[in-house]
Amino acid sequence: MKRIAVVGAGIIGASWTIVYARAGLDVAVYDRNEHARNSALDRIEAAMRRSSKLMSGDSAAKDAVARIQIHSELEPAVTDADFVHECVAENREIKSEVFRALEGAARSNAILATTSSSFGVSTFAADLPGRARCIVVHPATPPHLLPVTEIVPAPFTAQDVTDRTIRFMNAVGQVPVLVRKEVPSFVLNKLQGALLVEIFRTIREGIMSPGDIDKIISQGFGLRWAFLGPLEGIDLNAPGGIADYLGRYGFMFDQLAAEYGLPSPIVTPEFVQELNEDIRSSTALSDLERKIEWRDEAITELRALKQIKEVNKP
Ligand SMILES: NC(=O)c1ccc[n+]([C@@H]2O[C@H](COP(=O)([O-])OP(=O)(O)OC[C@H]3O[C@@H](n4cnc5c(N)ncnc54)[C@H](O)[C@@H]3O)[C@@H](O)[C@H]2O)c1
Repeated sequence: MKRIAVVGAGIIGASWTIVYARAGLDVAVYDRNEHARNSALDRIEAAMRRSSKLMSGDSAAKDAVARIQIHSELEPAVTDADFVHECVAENREIKSEVFRALEGAARSNAILATTSSSFGVSTFAADLPGRARCIVVHPATPPHLLPVTEIVPAPFTAQDVTDRTIRFMNAVGQVPVLVRKEVPSFVLNKLQGALLVEIFRTIREGIMSPGDIDKIISQGFGLRWAFLGPLEGIDLNAPGGIADYLGRYGFMFDQLAAEYGLPSPIVTPEFVQELNEDIRSSTALSDLERKIEWRDEAITELRALKQIKEVNKP
């Protein structure tokens, strides 16, 4: 895919534009708001400068900006595009309207992606004749810095569209993760939501101050999670890996699941076996010791860097 169109030049549209332009692609950007159009290139250039370590060559930012064209009409922006990324407001009616317009304006084989945070394409594009080419491509904020990207096909999305989208995301340096069932709010925001709901509850019940709760992540889990997912993380916290860990501490999560009204026990022997098999297929038990050493070195380096950086934290 060579020509990309981005519809909506706000926080996320501008950031996706950086992802595509710095990967060497031509990007046509349309926004219906004049101020958004007029400010887009300055915002993009400034963000590229701040993230220049992720680009190669001294003139990389200048070259990338030169590949971006801002449009005041939708049709000329999308007409030649191989991949259109809709980044307008999180409003189903607006998205539906934009997708109807894209159906007419974009080439029939162009992929029509939405960066929607919560609405699957089933909820606003199901009636389109070309619905098989519609798919959610949802990032963490901002995508030009955080590579993980949720790919959420609807039941009617063509498998080829999903496959091409995943390949495309890899090609532009993102890290795609597939949401296998089109559930509202997908997975990324659900995980963040679960943590935030527990944080809000803890504050409201007077158990801990907001500042101290933030430290649990910024001075605790966050340091580990910069390198390891939560499952990989607990895999290192008992000598026999994740199965051993859940054998020792699984009861805490069963209690929590019951408290939340979820089916409990949630840490059943069958589930532990399934998780263990999956994790052992990528990291052998005999490699855990080396992985622990790697984790320790990585966190040590991150903490040393963090100490320097935090001097300037506003
Ligand atoms: N901000 C986040 O943290 C975040 C993270 C992931 C995904 N998203 C999703 O990205 C999308 C955009 O969010 P944002 O934070 O960039 O919002 P934003 O308000 O910064 O930008 C939206 C832009 O879309 C433009 N717009 C609105 N309707 C339009 C239309 N019909 N045609 C063309 N342009 C139109 C607006 O003028 C604005 O510039 C939403 O779907 C949101 O859920 C946001």
